[in-house]
Amino acid sequence: MNDFVDLVARQLAADLRGVPAATRRRFSDEGRAARCHNIEDLRVMAKRSVPQPIFDYVDGAAWGEVTRRRNRDGFERFELLPRMLVDVSKLELATTALGREIALPIIGAPTGTTGLTHPDGEGAVARAAHSMGTIYTQSALSSLSIEEVSAMAPGPKWFQLYVMTDRGVAYDMLQRAAAHGYEALVLTVDVAVAGVRERDVRNRFSIPPRLTLRAAAQGLVRPRWARNFIARPRLTTGNTTSPRVPAGGGAVAHAEWVNRQFDPSVTWDDLATFREHWGGPLLIKGIMRPDDAVRAVEHGVEGIIVSNHGGRQLDHTRSTIEALPAIAEAVGGRAELYLDGGIRRGTDIITALALGARAVLIGRPMVYGLGAAGEAGVRRAFELLHGELATALALAGYPRISDLGPEMIHLVR
Ligand SMILES: Cc1cc2nc3c(=O)[nH]c(=O)nc-3n(C[C@H](O)[C@H](O)[C@H](O)COP(=O)(O)O)c2cc1C
Repeated sequence: MNDFVDLVARQLAADLRGVPAATRRRFSDEGRAARCHNIEDLRVMAKRSVPQPIFDYVDGAAWGEVTRRRNRDGFERFELLPRMLVDVSKLELATTALGREIALPIIGAPTGTTGLTHPDGEGAVARAAHSMGTIYTQSALSSLSIEEVSAMAPGPKWFQLYVMTDRGVAYDMLQRAAAHGYEALVLTVDVAVAGVRERDVRNRFSIPPRLTLRAAAQGLVRPRWARNFIARPRLTTGNTTSPRVPAGGGAVAHAEWVNRQFDPSVTWDDLATFREHWGGPLLIKGIMRPDDAVRAVEHGVEGIIVSNHGGRQLDHTRSTIEALPAIAEAVGGRAELYLDGGIRRGTDIITALALGARAVLIGRPMVYGLGAAGEAGVRRAFELLHGELATALALAGYPRISDLGPEMIHLVR
């Protein structure tokens, strides 16, 4: 099969030699990325470029997808109050996250099995984040391993872990992440059990994907994706290859093992054990209530990520942006606060920062970019949000993100 792909690729390259440079550029990843003018454009291009079950896995959410919609709609409840005649000739978008300087207040969220969208997966996403001067968070369930992502993208990274049933595998990953210089641990706590994503159920989507006739047909109508995928299929989760993981069962046994790893018996007491196995700063991801945020602070976490997993776990929760103000008040600066969920515009970032977040994380925007135009598409997602944020700050009369505060926000309704 690989020989066939090589042959087609070489033929394509030969054919392209006669094609004018402008046309070649138009169809290159860079050209495709440049034609996207906002995150929704990247989403639409990704939808056309990757097989529908994979797009749905990225785009979809749990049950009726109410939380996913609320994450977006929540931003509409807040109005910005711009101030005029302020010198905005110099903008300051840089900040720090757990002491590390970042050029913009946007961090890459952890997304699992990103290699289904593009074989360079998390490596490409991390590289794009680093090229913008910011941090990437790698999921424990990433397609590429800690070692592969570190080799592809040596810049600043956080490592995200679920509290796994097999603690030995989890501690082994922590050791590997520490050895490769990952700077913080993000412990995701909103996955006691797996959320039910009906699009995945309907598409009979599984990791690894089943090679059905329908799946093959889907691949054929997405030739860009198929060419990459056939050459370098990324079916398993790269970090879970460990002596403790059942060997020899192939990709399906591997996937079943991964699914059994969400531990429904986890409580706050388990945090202390993770502390013993991780020397660096700890962030807790998936907090939606002020009382939980206070408990996290009492347990000594350095950071809290206000998140509902992009609506992919419990449906019908509040939007994260509406949950943020009360959490910020309860935490009172005792831990760094971050927010993710529904960030699609620069003005969303202003709202989150004004209401108490130090920076935001983005999940789907990066993976839409990856599906639309590979690494160039991810970079485009960051660039678009960065550009919108800069323009919005200037128009709002707030040249420094550090000056943003609740006085520039009005709550409607
Ligand atoms: C395809 C996909 C995979 C994800 N995988 C993980 C994961 O492995 N670990 C985790 O903590 N969160 C995961 N998330 C949730 C994101 O980290 C983040 O909370 C969410 O995407 C933010 O919402 P947004 O997509 O609207 O930006 C995933 C999200 C998506 C879209």
